[in-house]
Amino acid sequence: MSGPAKVAVLISGRGSNMQALAEAAGDAYEIVVVASDKPDAPGLAWAIQHGLPTFALSPKGIGKPVFEAALDGALREAGAEWIALAGYMRLLSDEFVAKWRGRIVNIHPSLLPKYKGLDTHARAIDAGDAAGGCSVHVVTEELDGGEVLGQREVAILPGDTPETLAERVLAAEHQLYPAVLKEFVRR
Ligand code: GAR
Repeated sequence: MSGPAKVAVLISGRGSNMQALAEAAGDAYEIVVVASDKPDAPGLAWAIQHGLPTFALSPKGIGKPVFEAALDGALREAGAEWIALAGYMRLLSDEFVAKWRGRIVNIHPSLLPKYKGLDTHARAIDAGDAAGGCSVHVVTEELDGGEVLGQREVAILPGDTPETLAERVLAAEHQLYPAVLKEFVRR
């Protein structure tokens, strides 16, 4: 293989996982574009400040097929070979997933297969679980359902709220995601 793997990172918000991925980039992978469905995502400003190419487009008013065609075009133009979802809060269509099959990964704030979807920390606390955590998985057509590539467990402490647990899990995400991505792009 020649040179680092070329990764596009998709964000919808603050992009702290994107920042962790960017800071860990090097011989294994480089970020060729940070793309967002939210033109005002704070993470985009960080990416611009740090010299990363960005692409922003809202799907509002143009429809999902047009939005995804533009997104796909921007990623390919940037030379992306892999896609890392990092707090990207919009479902990708089956058609988009099929075009990038086996080349999209996501970070999810639970120990999958537990708590797919939203409100993962509240659900783990309400269930009386001893631990929450995060998972990096391959994206397939099934929501949060693809092969799990790596996980970190985070103990749930007495008095934890979804917010306090989320903060500790997020720190674990920042460790886990770059490490798993480096391994994954070597496959
Ligand atoms: C992270 O906790 C990530 O695991 C979660 O959103 C947060 C994004 O934070 N992702 C999902 O819930 C995906 N369904 P970030 O924008 O600071 O990386």
